[in-house]
Formats: sequence, structure tokens, C-alpha cells
Amino acid sequence: MGNAVFLIMKAEKSFWKYCTILKGRVVLEWNGENSEVNKKQGDGEMKVLFNGRLMERSECAVDIEDRGYQFGDGVYEVIRIYNGILFTLDEHIARLYKSAAEIGIDLSFSEAELKSQLKELVDINQMRDGGLYLQVTRGKAPRKHQYGAGLTPQVTAYTFPIQKPEKEQQNGVSAITADDMRWLRCDIKSLNLLYNVMIKQKAHEASSFEAILIRDGLVTEGTSSNVYVVKKNVIYTHPVTTLILNGITRMKVLQLCEQHGLNYEEKAVTKDELLNADEVFITSTTAEVIPVTSIDGQTIGSGAPGPLTKNVQTALQNSILSETAKPV
Ligand code: PDD
Repeated sequence: MGNAVFLIMKAEKSFWKYCTILKGRVVLEWNGENSEVNKKQGDGEMKVLFNGRLMERSECAVDIEDRGYQFGDGVYEVIRIYNGILFTLDEHIARLYKSAAEIGIDLSFSEAELKSQLKELVDINQMRDGGLYLQVTRGKAPRKHQYGAGLTPQVTAYTFPIQKPEKEQQNGVSAITADDMRWLRCDIKSLNLLYNVMIKQKAHEASSFEAILIRDGLVTEGTSSNVYVVKKNVIYTHPVTTLILNGITRMKVLQLCEQHGLNYEEKAVTKDELLNADEVFITSTTAEVIPVTSIDGQTIGSGAPGPLTKNVQTALQNSILSETAKPV
């Protein structure tokens, strides 16, 4: 009995430890998990898109024999929302259609139709600053590896809040290296992320932000980012082949390098060159541009974010601001 009371008091104490006030609302966090995010998405405040219809998340019933669920048979995109605008939407949707075509998923709706549905989703959820996850699976069918004709691709999308990783962008992060043991079609943004997940977890357990993948002695990319190495004022990044995902942020960053006269070369570097670089940084939709200041416990360059990395960061922020400014 005494023990039970003690346990309840203990539980209550840790319960209140995670009570915070956010935007005038009491937000309950249990073990650090932010229930504001879950609550908003779970209790009907946030709508989701399911096969062209906006609905409550609880109404969205994905079949247990959906091939995405069973085989990871599908493709996806993560898109950043700034000021209520889907940043580089055209590029993301073009890549989604390309990924789908690569695995033989035929989409019956146009890119324009899908884009207008996504914009509606952002508007109805009043999402100003956040992300949008979009997924297309081959469809539902009795479980067999091979797929027949006539399946209807299942499309789901939802929005979620994103915290800009400002601290990481300013101070830099550490990374580990790992063998790139993924399949040889990393250019397809496939739902199959098992190896990426395993290695990202390894990085996380080593208190690192990212794992940089090495194939045949050469740097390919991160588990969820593209990698850049600066040496003697030149930015090197892996060329667009089937061994990397051609990141939308990567394309934008290289375009900005061109515009701002920053020297770059699409050439793979060795692990040794990575570790002896003047600067290293990574890019992705959610990370934007993050300096990597230590790899496998070894300091990179001066150990602080370098000048070229900072130039790229500024160029990207300016481009985001100008592309997502709304006319007054
Ligand atoms: N990941 N390489 C890999 C393997 C990725 O998963 C990602 C993005 C990138 C960067 O792509 P982009 O600049 O288009 O975001 C490169 C997303 C963000 C994710 O899976 O969460």
C-alpha cells in the first residue's frame, strides 16, 4: 500500500515535470514526447489527404494488405512549408512522379491536380511553418511479391510542425561514417528505408546527428541528407548517379553556388579526403544546411562552421525568404 502511494506520487511528479504552456494551452508531455503534435493530428484538428479527399486522420483507413505497409512498395516526398507555402513544390512533385515511374506505378491524376490538393491541405490545416509528408503506394492486393494489373495507387499526405534546427545550423554537428550497404537504386525515393533507419539509429546512439555513407571507399551521401566536402575553396559533392538521391535541396544549393560564384564540382571524394576536409556540410529539406564539425570523433577543419558553409547557408535562407514571401 505504502509502495503504491509512493509510486503514484513519483509518477505524478514526473507527470508534472512534462507539463508546459504552449500558445496559451497546457501541453502534456510524457517522457518528453510532445503530445501537442500528436493531439493536433489525432483529435481531428489536422486534416489528412487520402486518395484525393481531405478527412480526419482517424477516418483514414489504410488497408492491412496495402503493398506499402507489407513490402515498402511505394515512394514518398518530404516537403518544407514556409509562410504557408510549399517550398520547391514543383521539383518535389516532379521527383515523386519520376520515382513512381521507375518502379512501375502509374499515376492516373496530373501533377497539377496533386499540387492543388496539397495546397488545400496546407491551407485547411493553417500550416505556416512545417512539413508535409506525401506517400504513394502501389495499392492494396492479396499478399504476393509479384503484382497484378489494375491496382489503384494509394496516396496519403499530412502536415506536421517542424522545429528549424537552428542550434545545429549555427554550431555544427558531429557525424559518424558507415558502409553504404543499401541497394543500387538510391536515386529512387523509395519507402524502403531499412538500412538508412538502422544506420541513423547507430549515429543517434553515438550522439551524432548523421551517418555519412561510404561505398567502395567513396562518400555517397548521408542516411537522410546529401554530403558536401570543401577543400581549397572548392565544394565537392557526389555526382547524380543511381548511388545517391538527387536532393531537391542539393539542386537548389548547386544552383545558388552557380549564381553566387562559389566553386563546386560534382565529384565523389574518398573517406580520407572527407576526414581531412577544410569544411563538411549536409543538406536536406528539413536540415537545410548543417555544418559537420566532427566525424568519427575527428575534428573537421577548424572545428567550427566554415566560411563557404556559411555562404551557402545565407544564400539558401535568402532564397527561401524570397520564394515564400507573399505579395502584400
Ligand atoms: N530525406 N539523401 C537521402 C537518402 C535522403 O533521404 C534525403 C532526404 C536527401 C535530401 O533530399 P532533399 O533535399 O530532397 O530533402 C538525400 C528526407 C528529408 C526524409 O526522408 O526525411
